[in-house]
Amino acid sequence: MTTINHDHPLIYYHGRWDSSPGTWWAGSGFKINALNLHSLIVILGEHTTAPCAPIAVSVDNSEFFTMNASAGAHYIPLPESTKATPSVVRINVEGWQNNRIHLDSIMYNSSKDAILLPYRPSKLAFQFIGDSLSAGQFLPLGVNQAWPFIVGERYKAEHRINAQPGATLTDIVSYGNVHGVSYQYFRTEDTGFYYTSDHNFTTPWNFSRDRPSATHIVIHIGANDASQGITGDQFVQVYSDFLERLRKVYPKQPIFIFTPWGWPNEDAPTYYYYPGQYEKIVNTRKAKGDKNIFLVDTIGWVGMSDVYSDNKHPNVEGHQNIANHFTAWLENWGLSP
Ligand SMILES: *[C@@H]1O[C@H](CO)[C@@H](O)[C@H](O)[C@H]1NC(C)=O
Ligand SMILES: *[C@@H]1O[C@H](CO)[C@@H](O)[C@H](O)[C@H]1NC(C)=O
Ligand SMILES: *[C@@H]1O[C@H](CO)[C@@H](O)[C@H](O)[C@H]1NC(C)=O
Ligand SMILES: *[C@@H]1O[C@H](CO)[C@@H](O)[C@H](O)[C@H]1NC(C)=O
Repeated sequence: MTTINHDHPLIYYHGRWDSSPGTWWAGSGFKINALNLHSLIVILGEHTTAPCAPIAVSVDNSEFFTMNASAGAHYIPLPESTKATPSVVRINVEGWQNNRIHLDSIMYNSSKDAILLPYRPSKLAFQFIGDSLSAGQFLPLGVNQAWPFIVGERYKAEHRINAQPGATLTDIVSYGNVHGVSYQYFRTEDTGFYYTSDHNFTTPWNFSRDRPSATHIVIHIGANDASQGITGDQFVQVYSDFLERLRKVYPKQPIFIFTPWGWPNEDAPTYYYYPGQYEKIVNTRKAKGDKNIFLVDTIGWVGMSDVYSDNKHPNVEGHQNIANHFTAWLENWGLSP
């Protein structure tokens, strides 16, 4: 067996990793590309979530399957077909909590000359920003079944998802989050740091580590601000300030602002929070000369059959339908898978 350390340059990291290195935020992970791969062992360190963190694994674009990862060695099952041709192995954390894997090293079978190759990232890189409605909360396979992940896969793009269940965009305490997304987006850690005794702090995120930098930014947020009583005017201000700050990181990339698809009801019309405010946010930016900002009107995308009846969050089919709607929207806009 050949062992490579976590700092090997041919390990392609995506999403947010701290210096352990350990993951934060649903969907963060790594990819490797290798020829003649016979066996693969991933060794995780002490900062991995105890008792375990669910990880999703895909080999050569197979469907993702889940493994429960804990500190220690994990054999990754490989199909026979990986033996002769280069294989890309993709691993990411599924959860919005219990989502820390601490990568120590990787071992692979060298008896038949397995060779690590560079992973070539897609030129297309989506950055999704949101809350529980984007993080895959309540889904059996977490973020891997959520609409941002599905869209990213459909475009064979790199995709990074910074979505924090319960969080407002406004930087206030909300449903267990000590910060809002307008603060936490610029940090390495998700707000779970506060509940993590071996890493009870948060550090700035170095956006140069996003390789390639995001080419398309997609934001769906506001449900928790509305629940916390943030007024429409306050929300527009916070959102506008957030966009101003995002433009320092992403000067020209298209930014897509979702309106709420709302909370469907059995016996009443769907409830849409902040009516007219998202239009105002986009129009204010346009008036300032921002030519690359777009409103994505999601009204009608989600009905009762698309959500879990108890918490009104999209179910597995609901997320697929949202992904289909957004893909159609993007195609119409000019980006095809
Ligand atoms: C992972 O562990 C949970 C319990 O913590 C269990 O319900 C689930 O079936 C396990 N999943 C796998 C793929 O082993
Ligand atoms: C490595 O591959 C060889 C040849 O296929 C096999 O005999 C050996 O058991 C493998 N070792 C591991 C640790 O998988
Ligand atoms: C993290 O630190 C805060 C104080 O800054 C404290 O209130 C909290 O209990 C700590 N959490 C853990 C898990 O240690
Ligand atoms: C940020 O990341 C880039 C790319 O990895 C690196 O070259 C640079 O030194 C980092 N900057 C800081 C302040 O750590």
